[in-house]
Amino acid sequence: MCGIVGYIGPREAYPIIIEGLKRLEYRGYDSAGIALFDGTDLKVSKTKGKVADLEDRSDKEISKTGNVGIGHTRWATHGVPNDVNSHPHLSNSGDLVIIHNGIIENYESLKQELISRGYTFKSDTDTEVLINLIEDVKKKENVKLGKAVQIALNQVIGAYAIAVFDKNKPEEVVVARLGSPLAIGIGENEDEFFIASDASPFLEYTKNAVYLEDEEMAVIRFHKGIKIRKIHDDSLVDTYVQELQINLEQIEKGGYDHFMLKEIHEQPKAIKDTYRGRLRRNDAIIKMAGVEDNMKKFLNANRIIIVACGTSWHAGLVAEYIFEDLARIPVEVEYASEFRYRNPVIREDDVLIAISQSGETADTLAAIKLAKSKGAFVFGVCNVVGSSIARESDAGAYTHAGPEIGVASTKAFTTQITVLTLIALRLARAKGTISSSDFRQHLLELEMIPKKVEKALESDENIKKISAVYKDVSNFLYLGRGYNFPVALEGALKLKEISYIHAEGYPAAEMKHGPIALIDENMPIVVIATKKGHYEKVVSNIQEIKSRKGKIIGIVTEGDVQVKQLADHVIEVPETLESLSPLLTTIPLQLLSYHIAVMLDKNVDQPRNLAKSVTVE
Ligand code: AGP
Repeated sequence: MCGIVGYIGPREAYPIIIEGLKRLEYRGYDSAGIALFDGTDLKVSKTKGKVADLEDRSDKEISKTGNVGIGHTRWATHGVPNDVNSHPHLSNSGDLVIIHNGIIENYESLKQELISRGYTFKSDTDTEVLINLIEDVKKKENVKLGKAVQIALNQVIGAYAIAVFDKNKPEEVVVARLGSPLAIGIGENEDEFFIASDASPFLEYTKNAVYLEDEEMAVIRFHKGIKIRKIHDDSLVDTYVQELQINLEQIEKGGYDHFMLKEIHEQPKAIKDTYRGRLRRNDAIIKMAGVEDNMKKFLNANRIIIVACGTSWHAGLVAEYIFEDLARIPVEVEYASEFRYRNPVIREDDVLIAISQSGETADTLAAIKLAKSKGAFVFGVCNVVGSSIARESDAGAYTHAGPEIGVASTKAFTTQITVLTLIALRLARAKGTISSSDFRQHLLELEMIPKKVEKALESDENIKKISAVYKDVSNFLYLGRGYNFPVALEGALKLKEISYIHAEGYPAAEMKHGPIALIDENMPIVVIATKKGHYEKVVSNIQEIKSRKGKIIGIVTEGDVQVKQLADHVIEVPETLESLSPLLTTIPLQLLSYHIAVMLDKNVDQPRNLAKSVTVE
């Protein structure tokens, strides 16, 4: 996690770095800092808190001029969030300065070694160890900064995206990556360079970027360009410049109060973008290159294993229902973090689907590596183009949701379900487990989903009123059955994440095996009770809640009568096929958590303790 930004070129670096850090705050936001070379000396300002706090502090502390600089927004791993532990970190001599996203796992032994040679440390961070290791190598070996970074990194175990420079040679910045993303924006005429965890900090300056691969480092020289090499064997790597496909508009709030709200409202378009070009209703086909090219692997699969974390794991659970239901392929859904550590049985004829919005989640990435080492075929479902998981997979499909900046996933979830539904339908057709008329009906309904999501969004005012009633409770229960059980889990996760209200998701029928003991007149229970999803059974569950005086918020199909008579509140969604209903029932749950969090005055886009991409275990 953590966001890193750097600049070297003719412009003032400070505003570029500060604005860049604001765009990367989704990656971590417990402290922030900046280091600038002002022409004569190095100026460092850093503080616990957000980038806005850093601005206040640097106003008082530093001159803010200079054409070379690096900045950091932190999600603490080693050492509590405080001013001292904030990045950038200086070496003992004060000459070298570093920003770092990742973890140096063997930092303790390296630190002891450095202490024995007289080095001292101000912070509790692993990063301060790394910059002193680089300094030590540079002095001992009498080498240039690039070489010193390379030698030091060869002694390091862990993950990193770093940017380092020497105040005595400020026309050069050294960057490197292993396991954490790093992009280099290249200005027109190659006379300026931008460094960042993703391209968002430099979108208004250049559309040309180089993404470093794992185990690569680059020396960036003002006016002289960049030289990329492999950290381990020193071989030179060709510089592959990509043209960026995203624009500024996509990463701005566009008039909404929060990114999360914007992203909730973007879902009709995002879902359409996901199936565009893949779903061809007139020809009654679904075409996805990654699936077509590997059809045999899918059709001969012993089973599909889905690995993911958090919301992406919930999308995986929805996929389990749809793959088994339509394509009759056995599916297992695993938390990536558990899968990688439990010695799982993986066969060469298993297909592993890894789902990840960011494409950088460390546990999911590790699960992929494990599956590949056992010979399984790995298919990635990612949103971020060119991300580590997308690159590490044997094949895959992007969700095309566009940048998701709110830490709480919304459009990532519905577009993941859309992609997975397309894959399941395609495989079902190839296997002959779906009739041609059912297949056509699914395509037709899928095409109608964006309009129906728009309709579901119209319940906003109703949801706001319900939110006002329940915003002060301490606990919520979410219940759903079948396809909507994972939606109940997702609804509970959204509420927990951004309002800090405790919430549990359960399969509705499981309620009587334990959670029913929690129900009293103070407990709101969100029940997903759409028409086709075991409706009568869910109505019975609602009766059981009612007789224990629980407060019922029913998510129902338009025109519902039965639940309306029992529930304290209902929120309607349009009717659709049961298999597609999660795409609609999710919407009111997102809005409910959003409004409650806003009413409680919580930081919706940057909830406490969280970060958008979890690049540590
Ligand atoms: C979602 O609201 C969460 N912020 C989180 O659970 C997230 O889904 C999880 O960390 C996985 O991230 P990924 O999809 O980028 O791999």
